[in-house]
Amino acid sequence: MPSDAEEPADLRAGNPVDLAAMRVAYAVQESNSPVPELNLDVATVADGWLPLLQRWIDQARAEGTSEPNAMVLATVDEHGRPASRTVLCKGLSEDGVVFYTNYGSNKARQLERFPYASATFAWTEFAHQVTVRGEVSRVPGEVTDAYWRTRPRGSQLGAWASDQSAPIESRSALDAQLVEVTERFAALPEVPRPPGWGGFLLRPTTVEFWQGRANRMHNRVIVTRGDDGWSARRLQP
Ligand SMILES: Cc1cc2nc3c(=O)[nH]c(=O)nc-3n(C[C@H](O)[C@H](O)[C@H](O)COP(=O)(O)O)c2cc1C
Repeated sequence: MPSDAEEPADLRAGNPVDLAAMRVAYAVQESNSPVPELNLDVATVADGWLPLLQRWIDQARAEGTSEPNAMVLATVDEHGRPASRTVLCKGLSEDGVVFYTNYGSNKARQLERFPYASATFAWTEFAHQVTVRGEVSRVPGEVTDAYWRTRPRGSQLGAWASDQSAPIESRSALDAQLVEVTERFAALPEVPRPPGWGGFLLRPTTVEFWQGRANRMHNRVIVTRGDDGWSARRLQP
């Protein structure tokens, strides 16, 4: 950490962006709005976490957000240290959220060792954030197969060409791997699914909804799975 006397690194480098001064006032909500999620409260999730998460993703999609299903997935490495990266949510149901990846990747190996994760969606245009936490397991092969068939051929070939998270000496070596698999499958109308590629289901134990409000007095509602079903509570911002 720099000492107080040091100039912040972004200014020292001649960068004119004053990060400390960047600030958004969340003031779009009306306290008497008839739209329930504008006044996010325990009652907003009376029918569970799923409808509200679907609505927020759909709202972002409808307004043209790039990759509204992107979520930052946090896992725990073999030293108990957190690791995070963005993945795309490709399935959403009462069971939880589904994403697809290489089963040999860092994240997948971390999840095999410690099968818990936290996934955060953030749609900053709407001052909305949702964090899903819970246990993770592989989805059945048939589920992965059904999704695999919907992927463009180029993405399918890319999955074969990349030993995700493993080092490689150069971009040209990576490109050569794509050329090799493209030739290997050229005669096949359908590219088969690599055995080491598939989906994970994150089954929520908590889902927290966050909605920005003025003066940093945000709304937070956490939905928790218990022995008797789901319950919701408001948290301080
Ligand atoms: C918007 C976006 C979406 C991504 N979606 C996925 C995804 O669905 N699956 C995936 O394996 N990687 C995805 N990635 C790449 C990951 O962030 C990450 O680089 C990769 O999975 C390797 O992570 P790991 O080494 O921690 O396993 C995405 C990246 C971005 C920026």
